[in-house]
Amino acid sequence: MSIALTTQDTTTAPLLDRYGRRHTSLRLSVTDRCNIRCFYCMPAEGVVFRPRDELLTFEEIERFVRAVVPLGVNKLRLTGGDPLVRADLPKLVERLTQIEGIRDIALTTNGMLLDRHAAALKAAGLRRINISLDTLREEVFQQITRREGLDQVLAGIAAAQEAGFEQIRLNAVAIRGLTEPEIIPLAEFARARNLELRFIEFMPLDADHHWSNDQLLTGAEIRRCLEQHFGPLVPATRPDASQPAVDFRFADNRGGIGFINPVSEPFCGDCNRLRLTAEGQVRNCLFSQVEWDARRLLRSGATDDELRSLVRECVAAKAPSHGIGAEGFHQPERPMYQIGG
Ligand code: 5AD
Ligand code: SF4
Repeated sequence: MSIALTTQDTTTAPLLDRYGRRHTSLRLSVTDRCNIRCFYCMPAEGVVFRPRDELLTFEEIERFVRAVVPLGVNKLRLTGGDPLVRADLPKLVERLTQIEGIRDIALTTNGMLLDRHAAALKAAGLRRINISLDTLREEVFQQITRREGLDQVLAGIAAAQEAGFEQIRLNAVAIRGLTEPEIIPLAEFARARNLELRFIEFMPLDADHHWSNDQLLTGAEIRRCLEQHFGPLVPATRPDASQPAVDFRFADNRGGIGFINPVSEPFCGDCNRLRLTAEGQVRNCLFSQVEWDARRLLRSGATDDELRSLVRECVAAKAPSHGIGAEGFHQPERPMYQIGG
């Protein structure tokens, strides 16, 4: 059954999908390029990046955001590839922070270029940053990223703290057989700096399509390991039911710990997220096999209402859940770096 919407509705009705999920959060990938090659995301060699003229310009990204704000989108996250590889990113942040109706804007980065850009990002109005940190050992860093650079990431974290962001989170992808020894050192590192650390379960989004369930190190296992070492973790109150992480604090209140368990405990039922890829395709899920071409509309003189209708169509087609582990599950064609984390 399709519901007829009047023009008024098309402009302002909330972005509800067939399961009643209201979409208020937009993840914007600004580039598919990256300066490292994490195996859970990218191929080791021979990666082909999109030609630059296929990437949305800052003007096009801003126009898209302004078009969807009346539908209730109020939260943005910039992703990539690594978003800081895109030249002048602080300028985009500045444009987006000025949009009335956007109440939160955050950035997810691998941290490699953060020491250079932290101050400019802060000045542009960015308040929150997530930095990837899977290990504190250079040799494991190289195993994961196939590049050198742990010191560079640590310098990026220090620069972000120096710049005074309201919130800095560390994201650690957990991989069985590889990152178990990192759990306690990462927690100690976060606690010593009063930062939040989140463990993310490895999802089947690697370019090599080598993901297997055997590499899954679950949030529950990591929690047990942390509690053995630090004592019981105290559940934190949930400010937002649609946030994927389940957060805890340590009994002494130093640092914080969260778990993002998309594989062992899917949270699709509360999903409020939409994605725009760097080349202007709208996606309703990381694991979606279909995309809606906003770039074509943006470059062919379409109206904002036409853009909104496209986004509505995309949301209306959203599946109830990702289906990882279910029979018939197919890893999406595009790996993480082409979608945006
Ligand atoms: N599984 C889980 N997390 C991933 N990330 C990238 N690829 C994967 C994957 N296959 C994480 C990165 C970063 C964020 C963008 O997503 O480490 O923190
Ligand atoms: Fe780059 Fe992020 Fe992918 Fe690692 S996970 S290769 S940092 S885009």
